[in-house]
Amino acid sequence: MTHALCPGSFDPPTVGHIEIIERASKLFDSVTVAVIRNSTKNAILTSDERVEFLQRSLVGITNVNVISFDGLLVDCAKQENADVVVKGLRAISDFDYELQMAQANRLLSHIETIFLSTNPTHSFLSSSMVRDIARYGGDVSSLVPSAIADDIATRFAIAD
Ligand code: PNS
Repeated sequence: MTHALCPGSFDPPTVGHIEIIERASKLFDSVTVAVIRNSTKNAILTSDERVEFLQRSLVGITNVNVISFDGLLVDCAKQENADVVVKGLRAISDFDYELQMAQANRLLSHIETIFLSTNPTHSFLSSSMVRDIARYGGDVSSLVPSAIADDIATRFAIAD
């Protein structure tokens, strides 16, 4: 049984995140999506909101669960008995940072990171872009899962 960990900030989850998680759920026996409460990024959504938005976006995928975690990714992986970390790579601009994290995590705990190439239709997409568009009343319905699109539009429009 191979158990994968899909970590991220998910502030908010996008269709790009969900596509990577869905693909991981087909490649591995089970997947834990971990909302990392990373202090270096000041999230707008609470971790409970991010977990709930992910759960609503992943309804029907039976081998995926969602948690939140505060601390090092490698400790989260240990706690969850994860065999591998799965991340999406959108473009070469993601590569340096993702490679550094993968190497640091392997040094800390020998855990392997597997990269899935993002669908090209999502390669421009980021949570920060969604936040910006929603903040100024733009249409984010094609950028975030339909189950949470209305809530994202409302939540980010009133956040500032
Ligand atoms: O969605 P993001 O913001 O690209 O996810 C980044 C995340 C949360 C996976 C990364 O910042 C992380 O692993 N944070 C946990 C802290 C940690 O383990 N840092 C050392 C890794 S080098």
